[in-house]
Amino acid sequence: MNEIPDRDPPRSGDGVGSGTLPAQWYTDPGHFQVELDQIISRGWHCVGRESSVARAGEFLTATAGRIPILVARGRDEVLRAFVNVCRHRGHEVMSGSGACRVFQCPYHGWTYELAGALRSAPRGDRELEALGNIALEQVVVETWNSFVFVNPDHGCTPLTDVLGHLPETMLKYGFDFESLEHRKRITYDLQANWKVYVENSLECYHCPVAHPELSKLVDMKPDAYRLFSAGQLLWQESQLRNPVNAEDAPGPVLTQEEGIPDFQFYYVWPTFMIAPSHGRLWSAQIQPLDERTTRVVTDFYFESGLADHDVEESAAFSDRVLEEDRSLIESVQRGLESGRIERGILLSESEALIASFQRLVADTLASSCT
Ligand code: FES
Ligand SMILES: [Fe+2]
Repeated sequence: MNEIPDRDPPRSGDGVGSGTLPAQWYTDPGHFQVELDQIISRGWHCVGRESSVARAGEFLTATAGRIPILVARGRDEVLRAFVNVCRHRGHEVMSGSGACRVFQCPYHGWTYELAGALRSAPRGDRELEALGNIALEQVVVETWNSFVFVNPDHGCTPLTDVLGHLPETMLKYGFDFESLEHRKRITYDLQANWKVYVENSLECYHCPVAHPELSKLVDMKPDAYRLFSAGQLLWQESQLRNPVNAEDAPGPVLTQEEGIPDFQFYYVWPTFMIAPSHGRLWSAQIQPLDERTTRVVTDFYFESGLADHDVEESAAFSDRVLEEDRSLIESVQRGLESGRIERGILLSESEALIASFQRLVADTLASSCT
């Protein structure tokens, strides 16, 4: 097996120090707005699958922070993304997903071409000037391995830089997401700041205590459970605890293959996570709603033909783990809101990815202020 390039041992204790970010960064509405503006509105967000917008006229809607997003395939087969806000008076132009010939805003009926230009507005000929100059605002869109990503910032870092070696690694492991079918979605509204959710996902120090079922399955010992960071990609790898008895493991969650870590969990800055395994994939889109509410949309993909029972069993296993996490992170949020903890303390190795994440947060906010 070739060594993955660019993997750096995670650093900790520098940048933001060995403590956590200030508690106020998790609780203050003003600070949340700054993060929305500087991190979320300038980051790459996974908004769906390319198969949903494969043909001319197919579209999907999503959000990037508080920015409504519309992604559509034009008549020229080009994939475009727009701010899904009508140039008239701000109604969201499209909702849901599907296929259409033009975009029509439901408020006063303005219609837009699939490439974004205003096509017509009722009474526009009589009462409006320069109709031809009006168009939906475009945002940046790219695709990778069946997923569609958008970034509202035209000066953004290319998606390939953010993904780092992930595409190469998935290719090497033979993980082709395009061949997988979407089988299940579970959405969670968590009463916690988005960073509390991300940080909880970046360490398994809590797993032996909080996730007994998962801990029976995956080896959580410090030497087996490894953490890596490279730029804006942070990830964790481990092996099944007892491969011989893997069939007894709860739920068909992981598969085994020579030379491939049984358990892989990737965080792509700032709002996307995947846990790929051969023939299956779990993904999460993180949507920060306010300073203490985070929506997490989890999706389950499998190779075609997997029985419904196996899909449900796998999703139920994941759901139990996430509900265990909900209890933890909602409690952390209440603790941070108590006003009695200014900063937490990070372990140098087991929580090194939290330090990496917090450095990304701090560095992004600092660079945006200059
Ligand atoms: S707000 Fe869209 S047509 Fe008026
Ligand atoms: Fe957890």
